[in-house]
Amino acid sequence: DAAEKGGYDHFMIKEIHEEPKTVRDTLNPRIKNDKVDIEELGMSDEEIKSISRIRIVACGSAYHTGVTAKYVFEEMARIPVEVDIASEFRYRNPILQENELVIAVSQSGETADTKEAVRMARAMGNMTLAIVNVVGSSIAREAEKVMYTWAGPEISVATTKAYSAQLIAFYLLAMKFAEVRGLLGEDEMKELIKDLKMLPEQIEMLLGNKERIQKFANRFVAAKDVFFIGRGIDYAISMEGSLKLKEISYIHSEAYAAGELKHGTISLIEEGTLVAAVATQDSVYPKTVSNIVECKTRGAFILAVTTVGNEDIEKVADYVMYIPQTNRYFTNSLAIIPLQLFGYYVSVGKGYDVDHPRNLAKSVTVE
Ligand code: G6P
Repeated sequence: DAAEKGGYDHFMIKEIHEEPKTVRDTLNPRIKNDKVDIEELGMSDEEIKSISRIRIVACGSAYHTGVTAKYVFEEMARIPVEVDIASEFRYRNPILQENELVIAVSQSGETADTKEAVRMARAMGNMTLAIVNVVGSSIAREAEKVMYTWAGPEISVATTKAYSAQLIAFYLLAMKFAEVRGLLGEDEMKELIKDLKMLPEQIEMLLGNKERIQKFANRFVAAKDVFFIGRGIDYAISMEGSLKLKEISYIHSEAYAAGELKHGTISLIEEGTLVAAVATQDSVYPKTVSNIVECKTRGAFILAVTTVGNEDIEKVADYVMYIPQTNRYFTNSLAIIPLQLFGYYVSVGKGYDVDHPRNLAKSVTVE
């Protein structure tokens, strides 16, 4: 067991450390001559142009990558996207449009609800694409087209590296679709690819700061409630940050779209409540900052996750974790690292069995 963990205390932290490699392995084979190459899908330009809507179905963290993907696809490729929890999709007699592409996301490729959603979409005559980690798994076989995430085996119940790989797969699809639909020029494409290629090194850099995050996490092992807030892509990452924390530390935590706070949730903020605010998106940065101020005024302790260059946030936040600059579409790939580390170290600080949280399974093959 110790040997399998490669010198790390837990599989989760080992797998977090594998994220630079995972990102590289999922990305590099699909970049050729400064272009995104996803020939493996066998999707013609005509097919890509004809997509009327994208429907993403998944569970858990895979669902959260779908939420990020919605923001990316809609903005970059101007294709409308619906994100569905697979167990909701399958039991409500969903309406799919003609030429609606259904994308299922799954690490294990065995999640019963996601698999059934794919089966239903196929039966309705829609094109299905699976973003899956386990080669030859049920969902990979059920879907018409497969895009593998090359994260390798993931042991820790709480997913980390597979999540990061799924994000990369989605970025590549969005870039390709945008290019084919005439929305992404050569220069812009080059810029995006350059930024993607920098992600592994930037993740390494963030991992180099883990002791600082551990120290911070140790201050919050006794927290009762934690709230994660953000807008747009930052909201999507808040959902995953919150899930990581609660599933392994058993601390109640929730993610909220920052603008929705004042419609109820803010009444839960008390003196010392930890609010983790993600603010990496320039277009909504001032808005999120004003939500931070609202929480702080009510006594919250503010942890901000933002991009280098936004040092002014220190005026309103109690503690700041910075991520390096990248394209606005890709910030989740960096912001997730301190959030995963935070969840991990809170769980370690509480002495829990990080890799095997109570009541959870790595792969949910029953409904
Ligand atoms: C379980 C795991 C989660 C995972 C979810 C979906 O709940 O604990 O980490 O996100 O299933 O699994 P999948 O294999 O379909 O990605």
